[in-house]
Amino acid sequence: MSTQLGVLAMYMPGRKLEELSFYRKLSIYGQKLGVDVFVFTPDDVDDNRSRIHALAYNQAARSWTRRWIGFPPIIYDRCRYHGADNYRKITRFRQKYTKLRYLSRPLANKWIIHRLLSENENIVPHLPSTIHYKSRKQLEQFLKKHPIVYLKPKSGTGGRGIVRLQRLRGGRGYLMQGRDAERRILPATKVTAANIPVRLAGWGLQSKYIVQQGIPLELKDGRVHDYRMLVQKDGHGKWQVTGCAGRIGPPFSVTSNLHGGGTAISMETMLKNRFGTEEKVKSIKEAAYTLGLHIAEHLETKFGTFCEAGIDLAVDPSGHVWLLEVNPKPSRDVFRLTGDLQTYRRAIRRPIEFALHLLEKKAAPKADTKPLDLAPQSQQNESH
Ligand SMILES: Nc1ncnc2c1ncn2[C@@H]1O[C@H](COP(=O)(O)OP(=O)(O)O)[C@@H](O)[C@H]1O
Ligand SMILES: [Mg+2]
Repeated sequence: MSTQLGVLAMYMPGRKLEELSFYRKLSIYGQKLGVDVFVFTPDDVDDNRSRIHALAYNQAARSWTRRWIGFPPIIYDRCRYHGADNYRKITRFRQKYTKLRYLSRPLANKWIIHRLLSENENIVPHLPSTIHYKSRKQLEQFLKKHPIVYLKPKSGTGGRGIVRLQRLRGGRGYLMQGRDAERRILPATKVTAANIPVRLAGWGLQSKYIVQQGIPLELKDGRVHDYRMLVQKDGHGKWQVTGCAGRIGPPFSVTSNLHGGGTAISMETMLKNRFGTEEKVKSIKEAAYTLGLHIAEHLETKFGTFCEAGIDLAVDPSGHVWLLEVNPKPSRDVFRLTGDLQTYRRAIRRPIEFALHLLEKKAAPKADTKPLDLAPQSQQNESH
């Protein structure tokens, strides 16, 4: 008998599902590995009769059909934050069905993740200096220490609401650039330190923002770049770096997110272009891979078992690797976009293989550590 894997999703306006093409591929790989994949949302659950009106992909007919099923033995939570209503629904589902086994889970906001990772001495050298926004004074102090500073909403995603402040020569203030909450590129403007909170009035700096040391990531043409790494549990329950790819932001953008117009490029090409020698490229890659694994392992001790994380990394001009962000529900599109189909396929297959491993072990993912903060990692979507 085959095993069932439930994908917990969320309806977007018009009852559309966000990642249907990913779920289709997941279903096809599932079938190869003896796993029936069912997709459902909290709206499809019949609480009274403990059954779910789930979607299953029919490969022969190339279409999705609905079927009533019981609760699958393991659930892959792919819900990303899309407004308070959706968030309530998913939280209610997870609170009601705590006994179910989950492959993935919400982590926490950027500030909490930063604090948790600061506990690990292997990771600390890779964390940009970061504070929670408190006051204009404190921001001014921070700006004196770092020539580039990023303001980021702690629960933001996709490059929304991110501002970069770059110190201008000769005490001429700062160049402010970024994207608003709708991800529109803001025109570059010159500001004084005192003026920044005024310019960003209404953005909720005090309640929502972290202030972070900016890593110089501009390429010769002025565009910024960074890397997206996918770290996943394999079929033996071991963390592996599935792959890592570079991303280049569009012109005039201080963020490189693909959903904000960024383009994907292989990590090797990117590193070779920047650092030339094979040895240097190899050592940077090794440092990045080691860091990715340390991050996943450390977070697992805090949150319990999960199957994957998308890790945004930066490599500064000296070749030092920095962590920008951890995403608990990563997309794997970056590998499709670089044409690295082998990695792309492996990235789809691994959650299924890990689910099988968990089920074979018949051991519930360790729920020994209580999730710390289930506040919307806002949409860890694109980073999703
Ligand atoms: N400290 C930083 N230094 C340089 N660039 C940064 C920094 N933080 C973020 N960025 C840029 O902004 C992008 C989005 O930031 P990130 O922290 O990943 O938030 P989001 O959740 O919106 O993706 C990054 O991919 C990177 O291009
Ligand atoms: Mg990101």
